[in-house]
Amino acid sequence: MDKHLANRVALITGGGQGIGRAGALRFAGEGAKVVVIDIVAESARAVADEIKAAGGEAMAATCDVTRRDQIDALVGQVLAAYGQIDILCNNAGITRDARLVKMTEDEFDSVVDVNLKGVFNLTQAVAPHMIERGYGRVISASSIVGLYGNFGQTNYVATKAGVIGMTRVWARELGPKGITANAVAPGFIATDMVKTVPQEVLDKFISMTPARRLGEPEDIANAFLFLASDEASFVNGAVLSVDGGLVL
Ligand code: CAA
Repeated sequence: MDKHLANRVALITGGGQGIGRAGALRFAGEGAKVVVIDIVAESARAVADEIKAAGGEAMAATCDVTRRDQIDALVGQVLAAYGQIDILCNNAGITRDARLVKMTEDEFDSVVDVNLKGVFNLTQAVAPHMIERGYGRVISASSIVGLYGNFGQTNYVATKAGVIGMTRVWARELGPKGITANAVAPGFIATDMVKTVPQEVLDKFISMTPARRLGEPEDIANAFLFLASDEASFVNGAVLSVDGGLVL
């Protein structure tokens, strides 16, 4: 059987670690040329090298998603190298958790800049090209907390709810142009991000999860792959929860 993403070019942000790394490897394993984007040059390069060592095709790119100049340069570079962009996976995100009464303006703004505006920035930069070609898959990482809220995450929850809102707008605006826009809402996944969560809080979430475990990055990568594939061509504006049943 043909690989699901043969001849596709996929961009993934935050591709240097965690869920992004798993997504990059999954896309490459299904035949996509993957642009591994990360703010940390070394980790982007390491994942691109890992893909190439496994016989795939990849390019590492250093980019701060809050910087429009860097994004424009990146999109130009990818189009020069590969001639097309089929899949955009907006995965990069940060947390700066604090209770509302303690959250600083900088903690609020920095999370909004990366998680919300970064998604807007890159999608806006890539959309004209997808519209021109009449094909595209935009997949953005929301979170289960963007649907249901979470203690200590005013900033992060606002951005993850915002990603769902933007996704629904893009599904309407870009759908007629052959482009789908969907969001994935991961539950608690075993990555460095979750290491900031106090163990007793994590234990509580695990005990509330019917699967009784944290998710693995690959669980989310599989959802990214489905939404990036041709098989998902009639899935548009959806929010796919991948949380082991944490919230039902
Ligand atoms: N639910 C209810 N109460 C909670 C709570 C929770 N999840 N977490 C803390 N509290 C309570 C504490 O029991 C404590 O109560 P008392 O004052 O009665 O003792 C009170 O809130 C203050 O707790 P802390 O001393 O921990 O307060 P803090 O200000 O030092 O820290 C915090 C607050 C930064 C929010 C910290 O509790 C924390 O990091 N919580 C985890 C937040 C979280 O779940 N983040 C998810 C990160 S992973 C991610 O974001 C990925 C994704 O998409 C899911």
